[in-house]
Amino acid sequence: MTTEALMNTYGPRAATLVKGEGAWLWDDRGNRYLDGLSGIAVCGLGHSHPAIAAAVTQQASELTHCSNFFAIPNQQALADKLCDVSGMSNVFFGNSGAEANEAAIKMARLYGNKLGIKLPTILVMDNAFHGRTLATLTASGSRKVQAGFEPLVRGFARGPFNDIQALKTIGDNNPDICAVFVEPIQGEGGIRVADNNYLSQLRELCDQRGWLLMLDEVQTGNGRTGKYFCYQHSGIVPDVVTTSKGLGNGVPIGAILASGKAAGLMQPGNHGSTFGGNPLSCAAALAAVTEIVDGGLDKRAAELGDRIINNLQTELADTDHVLEIRGRGCMIGIELDKPCKSLFMAAMEKGLIINVTADSVIRLLPPFVMTSNQADQLVDILVPLIKDFDKD
Ligand SMILES: Cc1ncc(COP(=O)(O)O)c(C=O)c1O
Repeated sequence: MTTEALMNTYGPRAATLVKGEGAWLWDDRGNRYLDGLSGIAVCGLGHSHPAIAAAVTQQASELTHCSNFFAIPNQQALADKLCDVSGMSNVFFGNSGAEANEAAIKMARLYGNKLGIKLPTILVMDNAFHGRTLATLTASGSRKVQAGFEPLVRGFARGPFNDIQALKTIGDNNPDICAVFVEPIQGEGGIRVADNNYLSQLRELCDQRGWLLMLDEVQTGNGRTGKYFCYQHSGIVPDVVTTSKGLGNGVPIGAILASGKAAGLMQPGNHGSTFGGNPLSCAAALAAVTEIVDGGLDKRAAELGDRIINNLQTELADTDHVLEIRGRGCMIGIELDKPCKSLFMAAMEKGLIINVTADSVIRLLPPFVMTSNQADQLVDILVPLIKDFDKD
């Protein structure tokens, strides 16, 4: 089913999905697919999760929207839960990842302007992805995302990912830098995992220079890498962290969390959102965070990811065109030595949903509720497709 009434931003659609349960999805022809993508890192709890369905149904029958002129109990409970889980101090709720990142960019500017910096500048990374709004596409390190949307936004400097020394040098030459904005693992950029001590070195650098450390955990957050937030593997606390995707398990919601010197930056009149933090999305997110944290699903994400990565490494050890298998928790990349977009449809035909990013990286973002048998099934379907893959 297609209609010309939709703008053609996504190209042809692969299928019409009509139903989901756990790690399974069904299309309108009755075909069943194993979900290795979770709607691009969204449905960590899988599809039709009873706790999310119950929370949404209950809230929709009581109050869907009331505006932020009024206190919203679920919004406050969700903020308390997120601060408790993360060690951060306060939260603003929006509706998406790009919006959360816009808020982070605004906070860095508030911070820089307060310090009297002439052109407050945020240091961002090569190969990064932060979203599709004007400021977030400028912050992204991909010409594909930026091309055609010039003029880009001022106030960004760029450096290589996972290279602290390079950032020090850039900082030495640019006194306007007031914040660093980075993904702990680059997702769209090809599941690029930084060195273990990268975030603690970044924390130290930001403290030395008086920069805000701002982390984009839109994709890495919400249990996906084995902790609720990926930075928790490093024992640091950032000044700002953004998240979205898995926060509401499919109900749109985004959040920006602040701590320390960033926590008091936003004041009445600085920021707002009509739908942000509404009773419905907060009910869904509160149920999702509770399931993930209290149900230990972050630990399950780590176990499941290890199982899949180990099995792939064993099965693909002798496959010459596989360059690297990497990842953390349920965020896994298999880099080939050639573009491999066509593997997406090849996998669909075998009943498996995967993704290819950065042209040649197969990306797996399975739901944490996937069983071990289903994880083995995923590997059993994918391995022959990769072994037999010649070229796009
Ligand atoms: C790291 C990261 N930041 C931001 C975004 C943008 O999020 P959204 O599509 O919800 O605006 C994404 C989406 O893929 C992302 O992976």
